[in-house]
Amino acid sequence: MRPDLAAKYDLRVPRYTSYPTAPHFHAGVGSDAYKGWLGGLDPALELSVYLHIAYCAEMCWFCGCHTKITKRYAPVAAYMESLWREMALVAEALPTRMTARHVHFGGGSPTILSAEDFVRTVDLLREHFILKPDAEVAVELDPRTADEAYVKAMAGAGVTRASIGVQDLDDKVQQAINRIQPYEITEQVTGWLRHHGVAEVNIDLIYGLPYQTLDGLLATIDKAVTGLRPRRVALFGYAHVPWMKKHQTLIPEESLPDTATRFAQYEQGCRLLTETLGYVQVGLDHFAAPDDELAVALKDKRLHRNFQGYTTDSAPALIGLGASGIGSLPQGYVANEGEIHAYQRAIVEGRLPTARGVAVTADDLMRRDIIERLMCDLEVDLDRVAERHDSPERFEGELAALAPLQADGLVTVDGQRITVTDDGRTLVRAVCAAFDRYLKQGEQRHSKAI
Ligand SMILES: C[S@@+](CC[C@H](N)C(=O)[O-])C[C@H]1O[C@@H](n2cnc3c(N)ncnc32)[C@H](O)[C@@H]1O
Ligand code: SF4
Repeated sequence: MRPDLAAKYDLRVPRYTSYPTAPHFHAGVGSDAYKGWLGGLDPALELSVYLHIAYCAEMCWFCGCHTKITKRYAPVAAYMESLWREMALVAEALPTRMTARHVHFGGGSPTILSAEDFVRTVDLLREHFILKPDAEVAVELDPRTADEAYVKAMAGAGVTRASIGVQDLDDKVQQAINRIQPYEITEQVTGWLRHHGVAEVNIDLIYGLPYQTLDGLLATIDKAVTGLRPRRVALFGYAHVPWMKKHQTLIPEESLPDTATRFAQYEQGCRLLTETLGYVQVGLDHFAAPDDELAVALKDKRLHRNFQGYTTDSAPALIGLGASGIGSLPQGYVANEGEIHAYQRAIVEGRLPTARGVAVTADDLMRRDIIERLMCDLEVDLDRVAERHDSPERFEGELAALAPLQADGLVTVDGQRITVTDDGRTLVRAVCAAFDRYLKQGEQRHSKAI
């Protein structure tokens, strides 16, 4: 990537984990609409279930997740009572006891739950849904809050994959983000996971953190990967959005790497992971061992993108449980109340806690397909997509909007086939934006594309 292009395309564009994107969800879709959508699902569809555990024991200052800090367990226990009740409400609304093939515990920190509550949650999932024997059950894991008994309980409950938050191993960076996590703790948890049979271990790393240097990031990647041998690595760009996340103001702006350093960190980080450490790059920020199913799905063009990022999960219906949980059904998207009290109030009143959503149109589905293919495969054949969606659309306006990116060598356009070049890979979100009907430049503020 040429530095001049890096600066020119330092756009703020959506991450495209959905289309239409979340700012276009509205209050016109609420509990009743969602209940109707659930009831209208084809009973034979297989589901994916996301559970949002909206609590952490301590705030990491970089955190962009939807979470609340608590030192006591009582609020967490009350929250889980609500979540279990919500699970029952959803199950009642479905046409039958449906099959789930993918479960994801995210947060916040699922490991803030007591081992008993974690196990009870999986038991309830099995009661309300038919959990396939080979279902993937994935958990986001904060190693600072998981002991061996906990890991054993998770494994016993059927967890197959753990994604561990590592972020950065440098002391100064860890202090600046208020997340002190010695390497040995992460190493120990990884050992317990493997010992108790959770074979699939992923790690999350971040570049662009305060005081993080290029060499520091590369040293973190090298040590974490060679030491922990994860199946997958996520290398996220730090999203600094202090106007949305007030605690990020605790990170001084001047401690953040400048745009050129962020680019160098991203580029050299990718190179280290792929050329030296042998991972396959999946999309923008994920890396998988060559025999990992994510890498295999990429090769076979079966990769998908949802609210958790890149996935092999092609389930056509995703149920989101918990405060801020997002669901995606064939009829549209729904988002739960994000504020915990509003979420709990709805459930006490016996209502699904849906706050907003959007019904998808045939045009949305076609554009979502294009954006997903671009984000996953870095190429798309517009004719084939239009054909799949029975549309005569030729995308003339969109192709014209891509002309400057084409002139700068970020994409090639051959008839109706768009290919993102190696130089353009880091700016794929800007390519997707050309197909986003809802995007008015400057209307929303998003994090940096890189
Ligand atoms: C819900 S957290 C993972 C589980 C657990 N809470 C933890 O931190 O270990 C999901 C991941 O999002 C990433 N993340 C959080 N805030 C971010 C931000 N502002 N910018 C980029 N990545 C972020 C981190 O890598 C984090 O591990
Ligand atoms: S990064 Fe993870 S542990 Fe830290 S505050 Fe955010 S969700 Fe909680």
